[in-house]
Amino acid sequence: MKSREVVLVDGIRTAFGRAGEQGFFWNTRADDMVVKVIRELLRRNPQVGPDMVEENFWGATTQEKDQGLTLGRTSAILAGLSEKCAGASVDRMCAGGMTAVTTAASEIALGAFDIAIAGGVEHMGHHPMAATADPNPRFLVDRLVSEDALVMGKTAENLHDMFPEISKEMADEYAMLSQQKTAKAYNEGKITRMIVPMTVYTPEGWVVADLDQQPRPDTTMEGLKDLKTPFRPLGKVTPGNASGLNDGACGVLLMAADKAKELGIQPKMRMVAYTYAGVRPEVMGLGPIPATHKVFQISGLSMDDIDLIEINEAFAVQCIAFMKEFNLTVPDEPRLNPWGGAIAFGHPLASSGPRLMIHLMHEFAEKPKAKYGLATMCVGLGQGGSVIWENLQGNGEKAAEKKSATKSKKKE
Ligand SMILES: CC(C)(COP(=O)(O)OP(=O)(O)OC[C@H]1O[C@@H](n2cnc3c(N)ncnc32)[C@H](O)[C@@H]1OP(=O)(O)O)[C@@H](O)C(=O)NCCC(=O)NCCS
Repeated sequence: MKSREVVLVDGIRTAFGRAGEQGFFWNTRADDMVVKVIRELLRRNPQVGPDMVEENFWGATTQEKDQGLTLGRTSAILAGLSEKCAGASVDRMCAGGMTAVTTAASEIALGAFDIAIAGGVEHMGHHPMAATADPNPRFLVDRLVSEDALVMGKTAENLHDMFPEISKEMADEYAMLSQQKTAKAYNEGKITRMIVPMTVYTPEGWVVADLDQQPRPDTTMEGLKDLKTPFRPLGKVTPGNASGLNDGACGVLLMAADKAKELGIQPKMRMVAYTYAGVRPEVMGLGPIPATHKVFQISGLSMDDIDLIEINEAFAVQCIAFMKEFNLTVPDEPRLNPWGGAIAFGHPLASSGPRLMIHLMHEFAEKPKAKYGLATMCVGLGQGGSVIWENLQGNGEKAAEKKSATKSKKKE
């Protein structure tokens, strides 16, 4: 079977709310958030009629109640896609949405479908992390997996143990920069265009959820210094240098490159390669490292070729470990998360992978010389996912120039 090129045409998300009763999505169903995203993707892309979407693929970590019943199929029906549209749901915890996108892309590449919508949702208010999980006790006993593996904040503390050179101060500085970059991007109007406003019912009445609830633009090192360390007494991981507990949905519109051409659509990015890799569950934050090495091997590219990196900031320590592995500048590598990350925006688990992708999509538009972008994230129970995208909104000179400069340097 011959593989076809797959392109991303568009992407959009809801605002990310705070999980729990104080969050604006508390009275809103997760599947309605998915429906909002699907309908907005169709509204923004009138060349794609609801009867043209053939696959609707959604990731969610908890697959029950308002996130259950095969979300991809139920949300396709609710959103008014054709009854002929197939639908599926998938769980790879934080990378659920990333997996929905890469799986739908693989389906398109193999000719199963021409057009698909894929994304992720997590209503962490309705579905607190692992609340209804029933881990097999043999997992902890026979396989000698530490109980830490089930609490993500503890896995982040373990990373601090593993890399003693990554101090709490470094993690706090990384977190403060993330908040500052997000605030700047918000002020410059870069973020709201990625968000579809949603009218929701709250204890204060009907409100429009159109801005993320998590960001703290006034974050300072002083304010971060003495925050509690909920995962270990005298630990290094705090609410300030960790992502939060959030509700949100994010999705993208994918199609075969040939189909986009036929419809006269100018796609934004081409999927170059993707992969996933496992690490020890107790240090799940390391996941992006092997996944990124592996995706470079698959694609024949290296970090030198990458102009933009979107890493999901589950925890600051885990991003710094990644940056050190790839010789990036700590704490402020200009290519990495230029508009901030999950420490500021929040991290509604399965929706974060597609959020990284739509950041790349908009960043590419502003950087036409950028050629390749990497979206990478860690995953609970010890995995990483990495996807490389090519910018179709520019001329890709920058990476090409850099590559030839590296080559001539090597020759000297
Ligand atoms: C870390 C965590 C436990 C904190 O939860 P929380 O206590 O509900 O967080 P809050 O937002 O209420 O913040 C706690 C305190 O820190 C303060 N705080 C948080 N961020 C701050 C910042 N940037 N600057 C200053 N203070 C800050 C809050 O004001 C609050 O103070 P208060 O207790 O005086 O009201 C939670 O966010 C968490 O579990 N995060 C990790 C999520 C996760 O594991 N995801 C999966 C990753 S793989």
